[in-house]
Amino acid sequence: MKILVTGGAGFIGSAFVRLVVAETAWEVINLDKLTYAGNLENLAAVEASDRYRFVHGDIAESAAVDALVAEAKPDAIVHFAAESHVDRSILSPEPVIRTNLLGTFRLLEAARLNHVPRFLHVSTDEVYGSLPAPEEATEKFPLQPSSPYSASKAGSDMLALSYFVTFRLPVVVTRASNNYGPYQFPEKLIPLMIANAFEDRPLPVYGDGMQVRDWLYVDDHCRGILAVLDKGRAGEVYNIGGNRSLPNLEVVRKLLALAGKPESLIQYVKDRPGHDRRYALSSEKVLRETGWRPRVDFETGLARTIEWYRANAPWVARVRSGEYRNYYERNYANRV
Ligand code: NAD
Ligand code: DAU
Repeated sequence: MKILVTGGAGFIGSAFVRLVVAETAWEVINLDKLTYAGNLENLAAVEASDRYRFVHGDIAESAAVDALVAEAKPDAIVHFAAESHVDRSILSPEPVIRTNLLGTFRLLEAARLNHVPRFLHVSTDEVYGSLPAPEEATEKFPLQPSSPYSASKAGSDMLALSYFVTFRLPVVVTRASNNYGPYQFPEKLIPLMIANAFEDRPLPVYGDGMQVRDWLYVDDHCRGILAVLDKGRAGEVYNIGGNRSLPNLEVVRKLLALAGKPESLIQYVKDRPGHDRRYALSSEKVLRETGWRPRVDFETGLARTIEWYRANAPWVARVRSGEYRNYYERNYANRV
């Protein structure tokens, strides 16, 4: 089996590549543009493997994508590459639309023209929008995205599924909840709060901090993707949730307790525009059809994540230098 992974230098993609190289005999090609979020350091564990190859390229460039897919003839494409951050999609929507919509289209075209036997499109619970408690989105729920990011993901989901209906390209779509774990870029809630807490800097909680997210440890997500790649039915969508819904404030308080830091570091700041109040997923279908369920409970995963960031301070320092400082300034300067 040979798979083409896109976005394999990012947070979840790199966890997936490390898992596949460690636990299968598959060959993995990683196509990644190395944006601010892509980092080859995340792949140090696999770079010496003769079953792993990195290709530097942009999924929105059709010539590069077509040539690679035609040459590599993968048995499957697992498509992670995206602009993945909601706040950045509000500050600068254009790269989000280009990569998430046009890039997905380019890949689908290359897969169709080269008869790739499997295409797994990695998507998100954000496409369902905000749900009132105690509702949980099943795969049949309407899509009601709120941000440029979630709208681009909803659009790319629909496009991918249309390639199954129209061209019989064997597409499966996964929709996961909020991931956390090692190597996550410190623009997202958990790694940003850990990094700030370590330096005794304020922890910027948007609004009242009572927005609810469902937390999924990254390796659990990757195992869910493997399960759907193996057993998922073409043309179908599979939710992959962590089954652990928590308000942001509770996440931040747990994190501060585990890091040994005071709650006085919490700083309430201006809310995110269009902020979804609550995400919640039903993962009953993926359990029923593949047997997958999350293994890592939130407290264990969070403690493990904090220890990883403590032990990898040089990684954090490198990714927070340069462009990150500009982003932090742009996103947070006018919030307090
Ligand atoms: P990330 O931002 O950490 O990584 C994205 C990767 O894609 C980077 O390596 C980047 O260099 C690459 N990339 C971006 N634009 C590209 C382009 N035009 N061509 C090639 N490569 C490009 O993202 P992540 O958090 O690992 O998310 C991966 C996927 O999972 C995304 O599709 C995201 O929508 C989805 N997802 C994320 C979460 C989450 O909580 N992080 C939850 C559900 C779904
Ligand atoms: O739900 C899945 C989605 O989870 C993925 O599709 C996205 O790629 C991923 O970025 C994530 O989106 P969120 O917007 O939920 O994640 P983020 O970590 O940015 O924010 C989580 C919650 O924390 C959200 O309610 C906003 C809040 N937050 C975030 C930041 C960065 C704060 O209160 N303060 C902050 O500084």
